[in-house]
Amino acid sequence: MAKLVRVGIIGTGGIARFAHIPGYKAQPDVEIVAFCDVVPGRAEAAAKEFGVPKAYTDYREMLAKEQLDAVSVCTPNFAHKEATIAALEAGCHVLCEKPIAMNLQEGKEMVEAARKAGKTLQVGLNNRFHPESLTIKRFAEAGEFGEIYYGEAVYLRRRGIPTWGVFTQKELQGGGALIDIGVHVLDRTLWFMGNPKPVAVMGATYANFGKRTDLATPSGMWDAERFNVDDMGVAMVRFENGATLILKASWDGHIEDSFTETRILGTHGGAVMSPLKIFKDMHGTMVNITPAGLPKVQTHTKEIEHFIAVVRGEAECMVKPEEVLDVQAILDAIYKSAETGREVLVER
Ligand SMILES: NC(=O)c1ccc[n+]([C@@H]2O[C@H](COP(=O)([O-])OP(=O)(O)OC[C@H]3O[C@@H](n4cnc5c(N)ncnc54)[C@H](O)[C@@H]3O)[C@@H](O)[C@H]2O)c1
Repeated sequence: MAKLVRVGIIGTGGIARFAHIPGYKAQPDVEIVAFCDVVPGRAEAAAKEFGVPKAYTDYREMLAKEQLDAVSVCTPNFAHKEATIAALEAGCHVLCEKPIAMNLQEGKEMVEAARKAGKTLQVGLNNRFHPESLTIKRFAEAGEFGEIYYGEAVYLRRRGIPTWGVFTQKELQGGGALIDIGVHVLDRTLWFMGNPKPVAVMGATYANFGKRTDLATPSGMWDAERFNVDDMGVAMVRFENGATLILKASWDGHIEDSFTETRILGTHGGAVMSPLKIFKDMHGTMVNITPAGLPKVQTHTKEIEHFIAVVRGEAECMVKPEEVLDVQAILDAIYKSAETGREVLVER
């Protein structure tokens, strides 16, 4: 039997319940020993429901008392930095939900804290753990696409402004659709492209739906009164190696149905997902390659399986801090470009 990994979860809202709790419960020799939520009663209720021994309203108290090996930070974005740094300083490895933070400066402080503590900070970019993503990455690393010169990262929802939490408040989340869901497709596409160094962005954001109360709301109504973020962001990113990437992310828009699409074009092949197709020229023929037998997985559970392997020292974290900081730097630059109406250099 492997040594038991003791886990604490900070924030017991949507993503903790939907992804982290079942994710850890699916791992052998891992115990969730404590929950923490700042709202009184919330952690206790979750502890009862999921059979977790301890509940706290203050994560510093939890970290001081529970001798945890690993912590998930599942709070809204404004609390990622402090909770993550506190957990790292308490000697824990951290899985922090995406985006890493409200902005690049906070992200840098978190990465520095991980370096100082000698612990891993993995960010919850679970889209990388999709079997199609892993397949594209393997093909890219094997050189099947040649030089990847273009990427397209799209996540468009028809009516998908979050109806819970604080997603619509800039001061608590750092932004709206762009930072919330754009982060997933941007990260995945950059990863496929081999994380080229970003140089500049030209971006725009829109808020055409968030404040409206005249729309059909089949999934419930969001907090229109406090809505002060973007519900769509678009950008072109230029890289040092000459590659470009187009990003489109929206919570709401007049399209037939919500969808995500990630596409890469290389000198020797291209790929699109989902569903995954790979396009090449082989022996004088244009071919389309579709994978067979890819497993159906819960990507969050796979992400947590990987995190636990990292905690045990059995794997190197495949979500590298430098890559995550580049993602955040691009998002910050897009927001700045949207504000100024100008191309903005990506600074790290
Ligand atoms: N990877 C994904 O697919 C995915 C999906 C949804 C949300 N998320 C991310 O997860 C995070 C949380 O989102 P959510 O939907 O669970 O939100 P939520 O509002 O449902 O839950 C957040 C919880 O954190 C608690 N909290 C806030 N500040 C705290 C603090 N200082 N200490 C302890 N608890 C605190 C809140 O009381 C709440 O219960 C966000 O960063 C979001 O971007 C990721």
